[in-house]
Amino acid sequence: MFFSVGALFGRAAAIDLGTVNTVVAIEGRGIVLNEPTAAAVYTEAQHERGIISSGADAERLYGRTPGGVNIIYPMKDGVIADISAVGDMLGDFFIKAFGRRRGAAGARLTICLPLCATELEQRALTDAVKACGAREATIIPEPLAAAAGAGMDVFAPVGSMVVDIGGGTTDTAVISYGGIAANDSIKTGGRHIDGAIADYIAAQYGVRIGEKTAEEIKLSLGAALIGGMERRQFKGRSLKTGLPECVALTGGEVSHAIAPTVRKIVDSVRRTLSETPPELAADLIDTGIVLTGGGAKLKGLDKLISHETGLKVSIAEDPMYCVALGALKLGSGEDMDAPRYA
Ligand SMILES: Nc1ncnc2c1ncn2[C@@H]1O[C@H](COP(=O)(O)OP(=O)(O)OP(=O)(O)O)[C@@H](O)[C@H]1O
Ligand SMILES: [Mg+2]
Repeated sequence: MFFSVGALFGRAAAIDLGTVNTVVAIEGRGIVLNEPTAAAVYTEAQHERGIISSGADAERLYGRTPGGVNIIYPMKDGVIADISAVGDMLGDFFIKAFGRRRGAAGARLTICLPLCATELEQRALTDAVKACGAREATIIPEPLAAAAGAGMDVFAPVGSMVVDIGGGTTDTAVISYGGIAANDSIKTGGRHIDGAIADYIAAQYGVRIGEKTAEEIKLSLGAALIGGMERRQFKGRSLKTGLPECVALTGGEVSHAIAPTVRKIVDSVRRTLSETPPELAADLIDTGIVLTGGGAKLKGLDKLISHETGLKVSIAEDPMYCVALGALKLGSGEDMDAPRYA
């Protein structure tokens, strides 16, 4: 039996560095960290590099920071927007995840990035992780990890489809025999659905709402199919008077507002299907489509995709953890009966 020398040293761990959330899983322990991909940084030059706090601690300060402190989201649309902040934030996350000051020192890390990430971005991330002390850093394509984490047998010579709907991107892939046979990646995800809601309210009611409020509206009233008549009130600021103002919205109008954005996701799935080789496309009639990522939880999205493709669609268990758990499984050989949570 063969095993890598690396397996004798340091633990295997996996990171899903998402646009909205970062998830870390460690061999033998499962998910140990799930935090917003955010960092609080000094804006003034005299403080030089370094972050003040990361994740939920940083996001709590959003909109409430004194001058000289800024909250940044260092990933945008699935790719790195600020590599130095990503490095500092990951260093802090690793200290929390591994529960020791040395953080990821000696660990063998598997990292996921969307298929649209360039070689330069892959290299930058590998270097950042190694700078945090990791012994090894391997990048694997996000859809492969998502599929493995959803419990699919990615090495079977049978086609299966995974759609990972994150905050900034949607990655659709047909997987067979450990590889990606067809795929489509678009820079559309949950954040864009939130943006569509905010734009609708500004245009229709002349009220500007915050990003968090837009997400709350999506979670409470948003649906991919025609929404209900339930009505709820949300607060924003009038674009005309500048004063706080309440807006009452129904599920129906929220669904209408997000429909063009949801359509982009459905079109991406259909595009992938149209590029799938016939034998694998035939397999999909039996294997169907599995949805992962936070966006998979949008009400009615599974039914809409099923209606538009004629295929069975299911939502993975814990869709937001699939990428990290799958990356851990593929990177360490850990099987899915291992603990999912610390
Ligand atoms: N119940 C829900 N209904 C609709 N959307 C949801 C729900 N729960 C979470 N989301 C959305 O899921 C998104 C976050 O998902 P996820 O953590 O998979 O993204 P990410 O991995 O950070 O992003 P990406 O993969 O694009 O880089 C957010 O936009 C959030 O609003
Ligand atoms: Mg993701």
